[in-house]
Amino acid sequence: MNSIPYLGYGLGLRSQHWEDVLNNQPCGVDWFEIISENFMLTNGYPQQVLKKVRASYPVVMHGVSLSIGSHDPIDMPYLKSLKQLADWLEPAWISDHICWTGINRINSHDLLPVPYTEASLAHMVNKVDQVQNYLGRKILLENPSNYMEFSANTLNEWDFIKQLLTRADCMLLLDINNIYVTCFNHNLDPKCYIDAIPATRIGQVHLAGHEHHGNHIIDTHNTHINEDVLALYAYTMATKGCKNTMIEWDSDIPAFSTMLSELDRVRDSSEKYPLVNFSREKSVLEANHNPDRAHDLPSFKELMNNFQSCVLDNKNPGDWVSDKDNFSAAEQLNVYQYAYRKRLFDAIVEDYPQTRELTGGTEFDILIRTYIEHTPSTYATLEPYIQGFADFLKHQLSPHAEMAKTEAMISELRNQPQTKTVTLEMIAQMEPANLLNLKLRLGPMTKLAGNTLYVCDKLQVYRQELTDLENEGLQSIDQERNIGDALQRLYERELCTASNALTALQTLLKEFVPKGIFVRPEKW
Ligand SMILES: [Fe+2]
Repeated sequence: MNSIPYLGYGLGLRSQHWEDVLNNQPCGVDWFEIISENFMLTNGYPQQVLKKVRASYPVVMHGVSLSIGSHDPIDMPYLKSLKQLADWLEPAWISDHICWTGINRINSHDLLPVPYTEASLAHMVNKVDQVQNYLGRKILLENPSNYMEFSANTLNEWDFIKQLLTRADCMLLLDINNIYVTCFNHNLDPKCYIDAIPATRIGQVHLAGHEHHGNHIIDTHNTHINEDVLALYAYTMATKGCKNTMIEWDSDIPAFSTMLSELDRVRDSSEKYPLVNFSREKSVLEANHNPDRAHDLPSFKELMNNFQSCVLDNKNPGDWVSDKDNFSAAEQLNVYQYAYRKRLFDAIVEDYPQTRELTGGTEFDILIRTYIEHTPSTYATLEPYIQGFADFLKHQLSPHAEMAKTEAMISELRNQPQTKTVTLEMIAQMEPANLLNLKLRLGPMTKLAGNTLYVCDKLQVYRQELTDLENEGLQSIDQERNIGDALQRLYERELCTASNALTALQTLLKEFVPKGIFVRPEKW
């Protein structure tokens, strides 16, 4: 089992910054954290970028789908993919969250809170053991941002985490913003939380921005790190020693230069904030710690079933959620009900822009909401769920199902392998007599749908409307044995005459070969 090296200050590697990172080396960041799932099912451009980044920087893997707290057994196909990525990438470490994402094979794609009970702890210790044995390394688990307290809790969050770290012999990814958020939402003392965590178990620290909603705070990752969070971070570093630290910024992502300035704020925080006393007037530190509650309470599997059905069906919770004076049980659960729907909704909107335009915003939004309410995800990642929306439109007999199908196909293009495409120079080097025997195929980054050509270049997908001759010409080249047979087909379908067939095909190649759409099925 490996130990955790000290790497310094890092950032989350986000596609908006790929060019900055690749074109400016060194870029001012010591290491990068990736979201594992974003690179598990692709061998396209994202993987190429990651390979280049890895060649210059240490990289760590941070997952969101391990669901270590779920009552379900470990999803072995998921774990296998995770290990395959790790074997290829050789990350400095692998992390996930102290949470569950679903039960009975349903995936909410959200990080849900676990009950802090002995049964839940024992189950999680066992699963961490399985995962660490399979991966052959210690993993880091992150403390969650917590919006809901189970009435059945018999342990404080930090006591639960402390025991988990010791009994499972794993490490902690300490998210300081999550501690601040959780403590505000549950009226706890963040300093007590930090004090309780053993320094030797902290492998990495997360910092991020949040949103204040009056009686609760949401961990949104969409803004600058709050000053209080930064002060809490400085306190943590002063009392626990310097730890690997990175910033998460996942929506409304700013320019890379802003991320670097934010990282400077973090580096300078220890000078700016001397030890701060965070104790709150009404700390209910002991109130949550009640081992006597263990009697006559539902099992943690029942709790998860209750939670999941309330989130999926938008129901009010029963007395299994702890009601608070200023943050009711229904409000606590509503944070998860809202987040579940918003995450799926936003992901679908992003992948179907043209279908949405054709359908009209309001009608389309109703269709998405209907899909979400009727179709819980059973996938480890979001992509297949988003693609399933196209099939849903087909079953709804939507007149725009065809466009949705095309857009689902387009999003798949981004994950296709990058292959070496044929250039005009390569063709020019051929003996003219051999040209008719040349065999070309449309590459994996290219799709023809109707009279439209879609070509993926890096993460962008370009479209071009084709004439009948262009469409048939590209299909012929792709489907026939060689260029000679493609010519014959165009002639037979009366798209050109015998005398101008060769010219027509040459024009076609001159126009489309430079777009990088053709590959040779055998070695050039
Ligand atoms: Fe985090």
